[in-house]
Amino acid sequence: MLAVEGLTKRFGGFIAVSNVSFRVEPGEILGLIGPNGSGKSTIFNMLAGALTPNAGSIRFEGREIAGLPPYRIINLGIGRTFQIPRPFHRLSLVENVVLSGFYGQGRPSRARAFEAAERALALVGLPTDRAAVVDGLGAAALKKLELAKALATAPKLLLADESLSGLDEHEMDQAADLLRRIRGELGVTIIWVEHIMGVLMRVVDRVMVLDHGEKIAAGLPAEVAGDPRVIEVYLGTQAAAVRAGACSS
Ligand SMILES: Nc1ncnc2c1ncn2[C@@H]1O[C@H](COP(=O)(O)OP(=O)(O)O)[C@@H](O)[C@H]1O
Ligand SMILES: [Mg+2]
Repeated sequence: MLAVEGLTKRFGGFIAVSNVSFRVEPGEILGLIGPNGSGKSTIFNMLAGALTPNAGSIRFEGREIAGLPPYRIINLGIGRTFQIPRPFHRLSLVENVVLSGFYGQGRPSRARAFEAAERALALVGLPTDRAAVVDGLGAAALKKLELAKALATAPKLLLADESLSGLDEHEMDQAADLLRRIRGELGVTIIWVEHIMGVLMRVVDRVMVLDHGEKIAAGLPAEVAGDPRVIEVYLGTQAAAVRAGACSS
């Protein structure tokens, strides 16, 4: 479905993503993990057209999409969530999702856009009544709204960025289940970005690990979790975080 070769992004002299290649098969959930600043969101921004790569190729269903603008890419069937949700507060909940559908589906009718939005809201477990508002939604609900907005664009491939950050353990399990259901019920292929491994490793079919913009490992979750380089750079960071947490508490 997706074939990425030699993807590279520089910001001035800084290389944020360096010569990264990977493939995504239809129907799978690929996990993309790595410490903060390792280049995960930058890869998503190139896949979704928000950034143009300095080098490399991105083929989606056989067609080169690197450098296409976001509206073209979304119309081809790649939907994305944003790591930091920024809903329109003056629009109702359902209007936020409808707007996304209008953008993503090449101007569906108003009736169809509302139907798609209500289906998406129901699937993620948010209220579908037209009076519901955005104000007062907590972190978990805002993540669900991001997913509903992406689903309203009718993606074949969903890029989900940091769906778990800011959630408690129960909410993390629920969010992971939701991604599994999006794949199972809608047949949507998913790339799921997270900086923490945790629950992601139980849900994804394969996982790819980034460090300082480079792909350092890829494979089945069990293989990758035992890879010495991953343990060094990745679990090393988590071990440091655990130590810092232990010191501060
Ligand atoms: N627009 C930008 N301009 C300059 N540097 C950027 C920009 N976007 C990201 N970066 C840098 O690129 C690196 C990778 O960022 P990012 O892809 O957001 O990491 P991740 O999502 O893995 O935490 C970081 O060092 C970040 O500061
Ligand atoms: Mg990020």
